[in-house]
Amino acid sequence: MNDTSQNKPSAAADEAAINQELLLNHEYDGIREYDNPMPKWWVWIFWGSFYFALGYFVHYHLTGNGESVAQAYDAEETAAREKEAMAVMGSEVTEESLARLMTDEKMMTDAAKLFGQRCGPCHGQKGEGLIGPNLTDEVWIHGQPQLMNIHEVVSEGLQTKGMPPWKRQLSPIELGKVTAFVGSIVGTNVPGKAPEGNPITARPGQVAVAPSGSPATAASATATTAAPSSTTPSPTTAATATAPTAPANAAPAATAH
Ligand code: HEC
Repeated sequence: MNDTSQNKPSAAADEAAINQELLLNHEYDGIREYDNPMPKWWVWIFWGSFYFALGYFVHYHLTGNGESVAQAYDAEETAAREKEAMAVMGSEVTEESLARLMTDEKMMTDAAKLFGQRCGPCHGQKGEGLIGPNLTDEVWIHGQPQLMNIHEVVSEGLQTKGMPPWKRQLSPIELGKVTAFVGSIVGTNVPGKAPEGNPITARPGQVAVAPSGSPATAASATATTAAPSSTTPSPTTAATATAPTAPANAAPAATAH
């Protein structure tokens, strides 16, 4: 390289002299470098993105304050479905309105998730029973699995038996959905906890699927036929009625899992 620059005429020599000036003082194994600072715009972009990334990392990954696009989408979808559920259920909780929810497949997929989160720890992800009884069999402890009865049990809980009340922890719509979900799994017989209670005489939601007659009369018909066959529809009296057998049931179950 030295050879070529020396052989060249003066223009090249001048250039070499200028280049010499720009050369930095240090040298590493014969390698020398120019001082060519990055353009300002480039440096600004560099530091800009660096600090942005820091802020981003803190906001989204450390504090968890930031909502990812996926989370925002999920939240929006949930809100939309909530509205839809409200429309399906109406403002009043009745056997029919719950039955309407129960037959709405989309709602039930949603409710299955909610059930898994809130009820799954005690009743199993599919309602197959764990600490709490199997909700998928055709045997029921507290009255009949009519939707309004389930709604009552879930809202008020069975405090002495370890079933928490949910009316303050769930919104009315969530209560409705989770109730309807329980109704939808009755009789699916997912293998799990052994049956406890009395065989059921009516399935929830038979009301809604019956194609003939107005839903209102069908509902009251099922309700009245269900009533005499069960000991009593009230969960509290039912609880006391089954009290002698309950501890015996509960004890091995608690140790089994
Ligand atoms: C902390 C545990 C626990 C959680 C959480 C829980 N349950 Fe229960 N649940 C129980 C127990 C225990 C019983 C049985 C009470 C008894 O033996 O009388 C029960 C009973 C029930 C019954 C009555 C079943 C029958 O055969 O009469 C229903 C319905 C029910 N739970 C629904 C739910 C729903 C819906 C949720 C979620 C919103 C839920 N439970 C959450 C423990 C729980």
